[in-house]
Amino acid sequence: MDKCNDIVEKDKLVYSSAGRMPYYPLVIAKGQGALVEDVDGNQYIDMLASAAALNTGHAHPHIVAEITQQAQKFIHYTPAYMFHEPLVELAQELIDITPGSFEKRVVFGLSGSDAIDGMIKHARAYTGRSIIISFVGAYHGATYGSLSLSAISLNMRRKIGPIVPDMHHINYPNCYRCKYNLDNTTCDLECFKELEEALSNYIPIDNVAAILIEPIAGDSGVNEPPQRYLDKLYNLCKENGVLFAVDEIQQGFGRTGKWFSIEHFGIEPDIIVMGKAIASGMPMSAIVAREEIMHSLEAPAHLFTTMGNPVCCKAALATINVIKNEELIKQAEELGAYMKKRFEQMREKYEIIGDVRGKGMSVGVDLVKNRNTKEPNKEAAAKICYRSWEKGVIIAFIAGGVLRIQPPLVITKEQIDTALDGIEASIQEYIAGSIPDDVLNVAKGWTN
Ligand SMILES: Cc1ncc(COP(=O)(O)O)c(C=O)c1O
Repeated sequence: MDKCNDIVEKDKLVYSSAGRMPYYPLVIAKGQGALVEDVDGNQYIDMLASAAALNTGHAHPHIVAEITQQAQKFIHYTPAYMFHEPLVELAQELIDITPGSFEKRVVFGLSGSDAIDGMIKHARAYTGRSIIISFVGAYHGATYGSLSLSAISLNMRRKIGPIVPDMHHINYPNCYRCKYNLDNTTCDLECFKELEEALSNYIPIDNVAAILIEPIAGDSGVNEPPQRYLDKLYNLCKENGVLFAVDEIQQGFGRTGKWFSIEHFGIEPDIIVMGKAIASGMPMSAIVAREEIMHSLEAPAHLFTTMGNPVCCKAALATINVIKNEELIKQAEELGAYMKKRFEQMREKYEIIGDVRGKGMSVGVDLVKNRNTKEPNKEAAAKICYRSWEKGVIIAFIAGGVLRIQPPLVITKEQIDTALDGIEASIQEYIAGSIPDDVLNVAKGWTN
């Protein structure tokens, strides 16, 4: 680990402490498909896909070729002033693959965060209202607008002064840790009543521009809301002139076994925000929304010099082709179900696994101190994560004690088996007490 440690030490001398949540000192040298190699030549199976940004895997040859060819022609000319074909082609593709049989328009950005800010601007402009409602536990990004809609870490609020006003957060439905101790197949959606109560006491619905939800909530622990909850939320929006906006930045582009996770619920959102996997790791995001919403702002209300970069557009077009041609959505559904089943089998064996959740290749393994209290077991998650890395498997943990399992969709069944064997062996070693406490000084993950 000489070179890795050396680079990590140098990094400490030059890089911002606000910009990294460390899990272990992995210094990437190269990657191919679902495999990664570090600068010391160690091999890993990637079960994290760069935080769900690499659905097509590392260095996919078709995507690399498209990026290279475009870079040789021209790297950029800002679409704020001029036009280029890759942007038009990509916008059309996004209109075609997103749910919603109505006229849509697209705008590009550079990160999920700035696209969330764009959603806020357009929703406010279109409705003439200012309030946006999102959910406790959500991560929507780190720009002022997107962090104001996030509610996951106090470090995102400390020391930075006033945030964007008129952002309200309500509890996301959490069926595993139901506050009301109810069964979600028979309950009366008590959690939805929290929203109704807020709307009748301190959030005037006629001031609400949009409700923003992750149809499968990623960083808050891969939580899935009941269909009935989303139906009610959608109806509430439609009855009150509120826009229904979804954050698909983490779950989009085939990860859950559909192009976008909202499709599992059969709902056509007014606004879809996407990023991460859209261009296989190249910096790009997009908002796709009803035409009339997108036309509610005029330039220069939402533009960036390097938005819709043609190299990124070509990477995104190639990403969509690869997802289609290699049937990665089907692969996410089938191999994802296999992967989830194996974790469920582990749950039968190990008391510390309280719950296994998720769809397709977006799976959360919730580690608990006690199955009755369901208290999150962050120490177990940190140690298992670190030991898995030592065994050649890249994972992370979120929401206290949830192992985040989101491999590239191109991963093979054999690679999944090898990776899950490594994770299972790490769970056994944790239970046997053979993972030392000092790894907790390194494997910190999300902090508060
Ligand atoms: C659901 C969700 N929304 C928004 C973001 C922010 O995206 P970015 O990091 O590209 O700004 C993320 C990133 O983790 C995310 O997972």
